[in-house]
Amino acid sequence: MKVEIYKATDQHANMPNYDEAQENLSWDEVEKAFSWYDTGKINMAYETIDRHVHDGYGDKIALHYKLDDDIQSYTFKEMMENSNKAANVLKDIGVKKGDRVFIFMARSPELYFTLLGALKIGAIVGPLFEAFMEKAVKDRLENSEASTIITTSELVGRVPVDELPDLQHVVVVGDQVDEDQINFRELYQDASDEFDIEWLDKEDGLILHYTSGSTGQPKGVLHVQEAMVQQYISGKYVLDLKEDDIYWCTADPGWVTGTSYGIFAPWLNRTTNVVVGGRFSPESWYDALEKLKVTVWYSAPTAFRMLMGASDDIIEKYDLSSLRHVLSVGEPLNPEVVKWGMDVYKLRIHDTWWMTETGAHMIVNFPSLDIKAGSMGKPLPGVEATIIDDQGNELPPNRMGNLALKKGWPAMMREIWKNKPKYDSYFIGDWYISGDSAYKDEEGYFWFQGRVDDVIMTAGERVGPFEIESKLVEHEAVQEAGVIGKPDPIRGEIVKAFIALREGYEPTDELKEEIRVFVKNGLAAHAAPREIEFKDSLPKTRSGKIMRRVLKAWELDLPAGDLSSMDDN
Ligand code: PRX
Repeated sequence: MKVEIYKATDQHANMPNYDEAQENLSWDEVEKAFSWYDTGKINMAYETIDRHVHDGYGDKIALHYKLDDDIQSYTFKEMMENSNKAANVLKDIGVKKGDRVFIFMARSPELYFTLLGALKIGAIVGPLFEAFMEKAVKDRLENSEASTIITTSELVGRVPVDELPDLQHVVVVGDQVDEDQINFRELYQDASDEFDIEWLDKEDGLILHYTSGSTGQPKGVLHVQEAMVQQYISGKYVLDLKEDDIYWCTADPGWVTGTSYGIFAPWLNRTTNVVVGGRFSPESWYDALEKLKVTVWYSAPTAFRMLMGASDDIIEKYDLSSLRHVLSVGEPLNPEVVKWGMDVYKLRIHDTWWMTETGAHMIVNFPSLDIKAGSMGKPLPGVEATIIDDQGNELPPNRMGNLALKKGWPAMMREIWKNKPKYDSYFIGDWYISGDSAYKDEEGYFWFQGRVDDVIMTAGERVGPFEIESKLVEHEAVQEAGVIGKPDPIRGEIVKAFIALREGYEPTDELKEEIRVFVKNGLAAHAAPREIEFKDSLPKTRSGKIMRRVLKAWELDLPAGDLSSMDDN
């Protein structure tokens, strides 16, 4: 296959240089940017917000929040004061350092105030995607023994308070607040806008993101304060954030991109950050780019493919001339999308690869490098990446194997919450095994090939088949269920479920719809199978495990491979 190369041009000449960064970057040096270099202590909320006020940038806009035609803007000083108020509210009700505080809200300024406020107390923040339904919320709060949830009147009904013995505080942001809940806005009005930040060690907890594997319940990936070192430097180098930039990361803070690059990286770099509420549509997104004069834009392949699918007339209606740097993450960025980006935006789309567990960029199309369309790029300076076989031996160029990273980058997860064996299973010797297969070419560019496990990436969101299968079998008609990712031109993959029905149930379209809605309401919309196929029985191993590999082969019309462990009864 011919590889399209998009060369770095004069336009990129004053962007960070890869070779120089590669030669000069040391994590110890980068650490000197932060307060612990002087004081030995740190707090992410201070480094992202308060320090800029103390450095004389209090009047600079930190946040533009856009919802339809309404734009609210907050300076760094206002962010400091608002997060101080939120911190006071939380502290007064009894939230303490190290507590797990979940935030379950649609994007709004209050989400950012409360998140920063919780960090100022030294709490560990667990952001939840607003589409989560009761079971998804319960699993996460239960596993982490959360003390507090901050949510809204609309969403609080999905928090099963009675089933969560550790949950002490239910804080509700909204106008309809029950008596046994804490009325955030009421307390906020009277709260002081001054707060003494809790100074932390760099190994103290920061954020807990739950993410899916191929087996078991979602696992809590814990990141610590030190992550800021890498989030800051990748913001500076890869996002190329500069003094006058207006930056928009389209991800929700319920996912790691929405925190590492939707909160921490831009504000560590003192950049004006854009948050857009509401639903996706090509018009609303282009309107945001135009109205807010976005210069640096970080999104995902699914979004670019949807924009690509919209008619060319739409894009012509908008002035996108402020844009100067565009990036992508979450799934493979198709070469035709890069080509389209060159046509319509006159810019290269820079793919970046990383994971919830890595906390920050690992393999990137650094601004000054030539882009080979379809490649994830090269390791972030300071990061060592390679391809190894299953025994841990490094493979030569062009051989496909496990994409692995040398332990020790600052943003690496420190723990899978309360599950040391799971954490340990990520490593072979000094190598962290990503679960992705890839190869590296002679020039050191990495090429993504697929997941090694059964994890599904749909519209840039990572869903575990086990979680969906568990929900499916709760439905009275479902005897057994197996879930796979089916390739899809827009979403990368869609969730497809194979289901064997209990006796007495007819395989009708109505039943399919009922089951879909059951998962959507019980778990989350993005986890609901877009396709369901009924089967008389499902292929299983002798130990009774459903063989997703065989389901996938059925789906793709491929040979099913080694079936020696299959139960043929
Ligand atoms: O399979 C890879 C895919 O997303 C997985 C990580 O998902 P998550 O933890 O939800 O984080 C997503 C955003 C940081 C990876 O194991 N992935 C991520 N970026 C890329 C990618 N696949 C191909 N190309 C990418 N650039």
